[in-house]
Amino acid sequence: MKFFVDTANINEIKEAQSLGILDGVTTNPSLMAKEGITGKNKIINHYKQICEIVTGDVSAEVIATDFKGIVEEGEELASIHNQIVVKVPMIAEGIKAIKYFSENSIKTNCTLIFSAGQALLAAKAGATYISPFIGRVDDISCDGLELISDIRMIFDNYDFGTEILAASIRNPMHIINCAKIGADVVTTPLKSIKSLLNHPLTDIGLKKFLDDFNKGNK
Ligand code: G3P
Repeated sequence: MKFFVDTANINEIKEAQSLGILDGVTTNPSLMAKEGITGKNKIINHYKQICEIVTGDVSAEVIATDFKGIVEEGEELASIHNQIVVKVPMIAEGIKAIKYFSENSIKTNCTLIFSAGQALLAAKAGATYISPFIGRVDDISCDGLELISDIRMIFDNYDFGTEILAASIRNPMHIINCAKIGADVVTTPLKSIKSLLNHPLTDIGLKKFLDDFNKGNK
């Protein structure tokens, strides 16, 4: 399973990269705004900076919602760096644009996926990734992980090459359960990745090993 970090924060991206387990980055307009990255030039420079830190795919989201606008914006984003994946919203114009991008060798991430039907449409259009938002599904008392299972079954039934990129991850158990189901990628805040490190028995065990070493080496 690939690990992407879901942030536009450069320090967090550097920290995730330094762990040696990072496969890519996803951003969205809310995450860019949170870091104060506004205006076309600043946004483009920010994506360049992220691509220089990581070696994998970096999702950059379009703002346009019409086919022509999505294609123009997507082509400009894709020209920033060969690691850029154009993130396109799950709307009819977005599906048309994903089809166009897939025929023109531009990688895409179809975002705001909340149903298996939406995932199927995006895969049919040739999306490289689809992003089901499991935390937001859970937020409305539905089951985000069940959505991942349904999409996994559908994609496997027909051998779709589209990768399931589980997004809106809120805790380490989301990551574990996505791995059990077979999501191809999780994109997560750094905090959830770091939570996977923790176990009290590891801390107790390490303390005992070090104490015993120190006793024997006095
Ligand atoms: O990648 C999508 C993700 O950023 C959404 O997460 O926590 O805003 O639902 P959240």
